[in-house]
Amino acid sequence: MPRVVVYDEFGGPDVMHIAEGPVVEPTVGEVRVRIEAFAVNPLDRMMRSGNSPAPVPLPHARLGVEGTGVIDALGPGATGLKIGDPVILTAVPDASVRGSYAEYTTLPASQVVARPAGLGITEAAAVWVAYSTAYGALVEKAGMRPGDHVLISAASGGVGRAAMRIAHQIGAVPIAVTRHSAKTDDLLAAGAAAVVATDKMDVAEAVHRHTGGAGADIVLDLVMGPGQQDLLKAARPGGTLVAAGFLDPRPTPFPSGPPLTIFSYRSFEHTLDPVVVKRMAAFLNAGVRLGALRPAIDKVFALDDVVEAHRHLEKGLHTGKIVVTT
Ligand SMILES: NC(=O)c1ccc[n+]([C@@H]2O[C@H](COP(=O)([O-])OP(=O)(O)OC[C@H]3O[C@@H](n4cnc5c(N)ncnc54)[C@H](OP(=O)(O)O)[C@@H]3O)[C@@H](O)[C@H]2O)c1
Repeated sequence: MPRVVVYDEFGGPDVMHIAEGPVVEPTVGEVRVRIEAFAVNPLDRMMRSGNSPAPVPLPHARLGVEGTGVIDALGPGATGLKIGDPVILTAVPDASVRGSYAEYTTLPASQVVARPAGLGITEAAAVWVAYSTAYGALVEKAGMRPGDHVLISAASGGVGRAAMRIAHQIGAVPIAVTRHSAKTDDLLAAGAAAVVATDKMDVAEAVHRHTGGAGADIVLDLVMGPGQQDLLKAARPGGTLVAAGFLDPRPTPFPSGPPLTIFSYRSFEHTLDPVVVKRMAAFLNAGVRLGALRPAIDKVFALDDVVEAHRHLEKGLHTGKIVVTT
């Protein structure tokens, strides 16, 4: 019987265990995907620990909003795909029921796209959430244009690294924010035009120096909390703030400083819209083909070691995506 990662109570990584379940037949408009690999995301930790924005029904809750695999079965009316097609999952809004932490899952055919040629299984498992979030926030929401200076918090993470690559693909200038100056060289190698390390520098001062006094055109905040105030002081008056992450659990003060257009961004707003998904997939395919977009992989675990994969996430020392292969 296929294996699936489940948890019956909220808590630390140890609440997850592997169970066996029946093969579920896809219903109208659905496909069944044999999952080859999935990526671990901060949202998974929030769901597992009982801090998810959406309610998670227990027991036997599942996890996982992204992954890659091959089409294993087609439900009635599922068109445009055939058995054996390699795909990536574009959105699993009901991850507690259909999550990708499994050997098989069923989901609407509209929630998979063809796996970009040129990506290995590990990279394909880790590409969608980071790239679609960064693309959606910067391109669709903020309207990023060539020459824009883009200030990115948590730039060391999966979304941050994707944001830097996408900025380059568009012709914008990514400025990375990290808490640790020891990460400076790594971030420059990952594509940062400049790095602001908050253990050594004042954010506004450093950004104004790098932008000839103008300030950042776009701020992509993946952290929130009190540190957002420092990012806002680095923004150009009339610029844009996209608040897309929540790594700092402390309250975020009401934005002050220069007048800005402010967006609160959740990628499901785009990844459940087939028209935007088509644009996202086209942008991703072009970037992969040109060598501009490629996810950074931190570490790969086997399915039996999924608890270890979450312990690794909890340590917060990863640089890039954590992937589990089935
Ligand atoms: N809006 C959406 O639809 C959407 C979609 C996907 C992800 N997200 C959110 O975006 C955020 C980033 O996701 P990710 O996958 O890139 O995460 P990630 O890979 O786990 O990011 C790790 C990096 O974030 C920084 N960080 C961690 N905790 C921090 C804290 N308390 N304060 C400041 N920096 C901290 C660290 O960088 P340094 O050590 O270098 O500072 C760390 O290397 C998460 O909150 C995630 O839930 C949102």
